[in-house]
Amino acid sequence: MSNSINIGIAGLGTIGCGVVNNLLRNQESLKEKYGLDFEIIGVSASNKTKKRSINLEDFNWYDDPIDLAKDKNIDLVIELVGGEKGIAYDLAIETINNKKGFITANKALLSTNGKILSELSCKNNVFFGYEAAVAGGIPIIKTLKSGLFLDKINNIFGILNGTSNFILSRMNSANKSFEDALSEAQELGYAEADPSFDINGMDAAHKLSILSAISFGEFPSLENTSVIGIENIQTIDHKYAKEFGYKIKLIGKSSLMKGGISKEISPMLVKKDGSLGTVEGVSNVVCINTDYNGTLILEGEGAGEGPTSASVLSDIVDFAQGIKSHLFNKPFDDLLDSTNNNEISKRCYYLRVFLVDQKGSMAKFTSILEKNGISIDQVIQRGDLHLKDEKNSTPVIILTYPVDSDSINSAFSELIKTDLISLNPIFLPVLKDN
Ligand SMILES: NC(=O)c1ccc[n+]([C@@H]2O[C@H](COP(=O)([O-])OP(=O)(O)OC[C@H]3O[C@@H](n4cnc5c(N)ncnc54)[C@H](OP(=O)(O)O)[C@@H]3O)[C@@H](O)[C@H]2O)c1
Repeated sequence: MSNSINIGIAGLGTIGCGVVNNLLRNQESLKEKYGLDFEIIGVSASNKTKKRSINLEDFNWYDDPIDLAKDKNIDLVIELVGGEKGIAYDLAIETINNKKGFITANKALLSTNGKILSELSCKNNVFFGYEAAVAGGIPIIKTLKSGLFLDKINNIFGILNGTSNFILSRMNSANKSFEDALSEAQELGYAEADPSFDINGMDAAHKLSILSAISFGEFPSLENTSVIGIENIQTIDHKYAKEFGYKIKLIGKSSLMKGGISKEISPMLVKKDGSLGTVEGVSNVVCINTDYNGTLILEGEGAGEGPTSASVLSDIVDFAQGIKSHLFNKPFDDLLDSTNNNEISKRCYYLRVFLVDQKGSMAKFTSILEKNGISIDQVIQRGDLHLKDEKNSTPVIILTYPVDSDSINSAFSELIKTDLISLNPIFLPVLKDN
């Protein structure tokens, strides 16, 4: 394949402009290192008159991004618009059907449409790169696809969302409330105006479904994935987790189980000085537990213009060098529909309740735990620490011995029906392998 390529770019926001600037800045070194000559033939976005960090006069403007895919002079289309359907989806389909290379940073697109994209890209034998879609600048897709191709992956887990990690880090280190930490993330440009997908765990779930697909040979799917966000974590939870020797992090974990794959996103307790507990701010980390290589840990910047555009550039270099792999590392016909097994082995849990100040409430509370097979390992009860709106109740924090998730769910259902507690309890799993 010629190392001279013509590029079309749809989406000129944070990442789109970052890619254009990064390409132009590195033009000489791309030529020197990889013999890569490129031309940006055309660009497209919603609003032609918007002020941007690139000079639009240097490029041909396409009102409709689909025309980039139809242009005979363009070899490679880069989609940096976002969204699981709409223009991102239409552009992907049109580009693949026109047998051009396609690069995206869009995890929602891949997670939702992985099956059809895998089928079409396999049938048309086209390049499809998405290194930037998971964990920003961390080269996790290439590591899974080529670095570990002979190894068997048992589970893959990590911190996959920088915004929620920033919020949890600030609640922990600066004693901020969830709302204040979120506002700080928004002021610093780490969180979108609508940060729902970062906070409710959906962004991490999209990324986990992609990692799981490559690791275990399935089509990406959110079906049967347990997704819990960080909205219900209080500042005091960080304080108590710390007393037990842990930090609270939003963890995504996919594990190969007998008869299926278990996928979950949840705030979990991780060792405070371990490989996950020390990852702070907007950073991401991915741990891959394998048969031959033990546990590999990749940590780095999870988002932002610099790391994300660098990942897009690495895909561009692969395209120019003719390096091609199947979308999820296996031909379409060899991939399986997601076979779920959410059976999670017994593990310890952090349990926090606000117990109303009335005679006998502690005894009634512990008897519910006992009835559901939950044994207490450690307990903290502080009369002096109340939540602002919970003056007549006292926080009780428990670390359980290993217990199955059915027992936890059953205790939860029973507790919320009683008048013993003033706020829904939270149960957070304690992650062992970190
Ligand atoms: N930001 C990050 O740190 C990050 C990290 C990893 C992956 N990503 C992914 O990268 C992609 C882009 O993210 P971003 O942060 O750069 O988003 P962004 O700043 O909101 O930019 C989106 C761009 O898409 C354009 N656009 C929207 N609708 C369009 C349409 N119908 N036709 C043509 N253009 C349209 C917008 O045009 P206007 O500029 O004219 O409004 C804008 O230029 C997303 O898939 C995101 O998930 C982002």
